[in-house]
Amino acid sequence: MADLRDSVFLRACRREATPYPPVWFMRQAGRALPEYRRVRQGNTMLEACRQPELIMEITLQPVRRYGVDAAILFSDIVVPLQAVGVDVEITPGIGPVIAEPFRRAADLDRLPALSPSDVPYVSEAVRALTVELGPVPLIGFAGAPFTLASYLIEGGPSRTHEHTKALMYGDPATWHALLGRLAVIAAGYLQVQIDAGVSAVQVFDSWAGALSAADYLQSVEPHSAALLASVSGVPKIHFGVGTGELLTLMGQAGADVVGVDWRVPLDEAARRVGPGRAVQGNLDPALCFAPWPVLADRVRDTVRRGRGAEGHIFNLGHGVLPETDPDVLRRIVELVHSETAPH
Ligand code: CP3
Repeated sequence: MADLRDSVFLRACRREATPYPPVWFMRQAGRALPEYRRVRQGNTMLEACRQPELIMEITLQPVRRYGVDAAILFSDIVVPLQAVGVDVEITPGIGPVIAEPFRRAADLDRLPALSPSDVPYVSEAVRALTVELGPVPLIGFAGAPFTLASYLIEGGPSRTHEHTKALMYGDPATWHALLGRLAVIAAGYLQVQIDAGVSAVQVFDSWAGALSAADYLQSVEPHSAALLASVSGVPKIHFGVGTGELLTLMGQAGADVVGVDWRVPLDEAARRVGPGRAVQGNLDPALCFAPWPVLADRVRDTVRRGRGAEGHIFNLGHGVLPETDPDVLRRIVELVHSETAPH
């Protein structure tokens, strides 16, 4: 039987040779799939995230449908926040909405550490999934401190992050205390998943690209690095969007793999990330809407540029868009798997 440790995904994380780049898609478990929309009916997003049977089914759907080389746990970056008592909901078409946004030092008391008993459904689902998945690795994940802080402070999604930056520039002591607490909660959430058997973890710092390199280094990187340092025993992936100017710093933050969006070509991204790291990415999710010959050329180009890196995990540059045709994703997997030139 194929061995999990020797899976192409884990080999690429370790920067070992693989016959082709492993491929999975951020947000592969989600609205692009009719079978997802069917099983989600009657539950809010966060209700679904608390039911082990639903977590399992939705996590497995893209593995069955696309033949991807890794599964990602169906959950959300705000699940651990809700589990420690934050009043948060995920509003369809908007994203996480926080009832009482965080602005002051006193708000820190609302962020206790996460204990495994806060998320029993996650441990249960991960344990059962690792059995079900056999040789296919399961990726666990958490939100990075900055991205979580942005939701908490703004009260919801923001393009400009002005309240977040106001706190960052105006009250550094509260800022660092807040990010420190969020790193502890995220570390606890990753540890629950690792103890239950995930094969790798990804830290999503989706909105880090809103910062200059100097501000990232001073105000954010120490907390992401602390989160990454808390993880041992499994490969770590560190991802953000619009991070072209941050890739060198992200490469130094402690992950084994740095995820990149489509704005920087993968060979250049690997150069910025530096030696001793693999890269993950980076097809523009909107290219899934282009004619197949155009898309196929870009897939091949991404694979070719990835060969210049020490390790490459094929992915989109951000999540699957909800209107994506699932058959296009299946064809991408097939094409990447047929690109078998020696790495
Ligand atoms: O990748 C996967 O397939 C695993 C599951 C996963 C979800 N969210 C499920 C989800 C992962 C890894 C996430 C992470 C996440 N959540 C991030 C980081 C990744 C990124 O996209 O940058 C962020 C920023 C969030 C916060 C969040 N949750 C947003 C912005 C939204 C979209 C809201 C909307 O309706 O457009 C969500 C909801 C969400 N998380 C959905 C899924 C499948 C859709 C909910 C639904 O089906 O109604």
